[in-house]
Amino acid sequence: MLERYGHGGDLRSAAELYGRKEEELLDYSSNMNPLGPPPAFQAIIEQYWQFIAAYPDPAQRDLLEAIAHRHQVEPASIIAGNGAAELIDLVVRYINPVKAAVFLPSFVEYEQAIAKAKCECVYIATEEQQQFNPTMVQLQHLIEKERPQLVMLGYPNNPTGALMPSEQLDYLLDSGIYVVVDEAFLDFHLEEERLTAISKLPRYEKLFVIRSMTKFYSMPGIRLGYMLAAAKHITALKQLQVPWSVNSLAQQLGVAALQQDSFAEQTKRWLAEENAWLSAQLRQLKLQVYPSVTNYMLARLPMECKLTSGQLQQLMGQRGILIRDAGKFRGLDASYIRLAIKERASNERLLQELKHVLAQQQVEAANEI
Ligand SMILES: Cc1ncc(COP(=O)(O)O)c(C=O)c1O
Repeated sequence: MLERYGHGGDLRSAAELYGRKEEELLDYSSNMNPLGPPPAFQAIIEQYWQFIAAYPDPAQRDLLEAIAHRHQVEPASIIAGNGAAELIDLVVRYINPVKAAVFLPSFVEYEQAIAKAKCECVYIATEEQQQFNPTMVQLQHLIEKERPQLVMLGYPNNPTGALMPSEQLDYLLDSGIYVVVDEAFLDFHLEEERLTAISKLPRYEKLFVIRSMTKFYSMPGIRLGYMLAAAKHITALKQLQVPWSVNSLAQQLGVAALQQDSFAEQTKRWLAEENAWLSAQLRQLKLQVYPSVTNYMLARLPMECKLTSGQLQQLMGQRGILIRDAGKFRGLDASYIRLAIKERASNERLLQELKHVLAQQQVEAANEI
């Protein structure tokens, strides 16, 4: 199983499983910007040698200034972390709820952080007919009957690529409970500025917004994310955080990343086009593709396909292509896969291999009859 450690993008496990070299694998199981990392990173990394003998700035001053400038907020309302994953864990430990809620399917780290905090987790199952968003009736039931102190949501959600409608998000915020909005993939959206919950922070004291820099700037190996919230929460969160959790290379690259305006624009324009193209091509292969606002998509195998998502993952892996077995997400079954969106040449190879594997299993199924 490719998700041996719970996530996609595990090239080491894939190489062991499929008997191939890591560099031969085309990774559709994690969702990095294929236009990245930005070329400006190279010179920073080449010169970084001279900094490794010194501790990183413990207050991450340059980085927090750059993030503050980017979102027009005060540095005191930002905490940076060793990837968004650290901040998901940290915010749950900080809020320390007795009961918290997550929507299904969603990113596994939410429920894991809740479990690690020894907190009860309420699962709210969503339906594909509702674009994997909860209904207002479900939300009302959650708030009035289940009464969690915290709700965690992906905005957009992973693995569905769906955005919760603003009416529902506002309902949760108005209910007065803690809401953690994970915007790890929102920066891929052309209308990020209009959609972000960051603009709601002055109105909602119990709102926390998490951002990742690893996906958009293609630096998951470096680890960098940040969270925005009311300054009093940020001060308290910093007391709970491990010192120097953001190393000096991550701090330098983070500052540089936030200056890459044309890279950002180019990425968003590329994605809008490629998302539409790849979705259409996958539909021609009879997959059911769910509309995604970001750089990955959830798809369902054709009705007549006899393969499970795990078997398809295995067959594709043997051909050097890693896909996400979305049946591993709580709330989905073994007919779902998740695919990253990459550049055209890679997407063409993905489609070619997928077509081959699906056709082959049709022949085998026909021979069995
Ligand atoms: C929805 C979501 N949030 C957060 C993360 C963690 O991101 P990071 O690499 O910044 O820790 C991921 C990683 O896959 C994710 O899918």
